Amino acid sequence: MIFPEWNALTIVLYSGLALMALSSAPMEYWGPLQMQYSKFRAASGMPSRPGMVILYAVPLVVLTVLASPYLATPTEVQAVVFGAVFLHFAKRVLESLFLHRYSGPMTITTVIMVTSLYSLLTGVIGYLNRQPMPAMDGIAWVGVLLFIAGEIGNFLHHRRLAQMRQSTMEYVIPRGLLFDYAICPHYFCELVAWFGILLMARHFALLLLFLFMVGYLTTRAVKTLRWYRQEFPNFPADVKVLVPFVF
Ligand SMILES: NC(=O)c1ccc[n+]([C@@H]2O[C@H](COP(=O)([O-])OP(=O)(O)OC[C@H]3O[C@@H](n4cnc5c(N)ncnc54)[C@H](OP(=O)(O)O)[C@@H]3O)[C@@H](O)[C@H]2O)c1
Repeated sequence: MIFPEWNALTIVLYSGLALMALSSAPMEYWGPLQMQYSKFRAASGMPSRPGMVILYAVPLVVLTVLASPYLATPTEVQAVVFGAVFLHFAKRVLESLFLHRYSGPMTITTVIMVTSLYSLLTGVIGYLNRQPMPAMDGIAWVGVLLFIAGEIGNFLHHRRLAQMRQSTMEYVIPRGLLFDYAICPHYFCELVAWFGILLMARHFALLLLFLFMVGYLTTRAVKTLRWYRQEFPNFPADVKVLVPFVF
């Protein structure tokens, strides 16, 4: 793990990241971090498609700008870490544009909050990747495999959700792939992909940001399962929250 040089500034900055990691779950559950899109959307706002494109495209630009000093001649680790994060956000821009079928709006506040959080994430990675691990080792290559598996799984479940919107724009109980075992397998796959990036980059700040995502996505998945159980009295009892057969 790569730690910063500890001084007053880094202690303050990393304490902020640690606080974010600790507060993401309670903030999504009870507080102002409750993101108002999809099943938890407000009645009005901006159309979801441009909103989603903005919140994924801006962090791509931030990543590229902060990575610009090493982009012409990157080390192997710099190329792999930058490439993975770039591919993840580019995939999300393309999915938002061409795959997802949104049934309503999202609030502008949510667009601004998520754009800021993702830009912090990509900015931190783009900047810290200026001092990368010395070389790709076995752990980093395991990270690459997890990243690829996570992204493919994430995409396949997004495609499944989009297929369910071919005949109706109403919400239906998701079926097929890992949806038969957990309500948010796409979130689980996303976390697998980010754990892969963490293994490649191994910066302490990224560990804290990863924990932030774990808190947020787990809480969102818990709320999503509760939502399905309320909306569909026949919802199967054995479907888990995030990790098939486990939780
Ligand atoms: N890294 C992070 O912290 C983080 C956080 C959030 C999201 N993400 C990424 O963004 C992806 C999407 O997240 P999300 O929260 O937007 O997922 P989501 O709420 O499951 O929505 C994804 C898409 O599926 C549709 N959908 C959802 N449930 C459906 C149902 N029962 N029947 C038919 N269509 C349905 C949604 O349409 P509606 O708009 O009509 O609901 C939307 O188009 C995640 O898988 C992950 O990759 C990452």
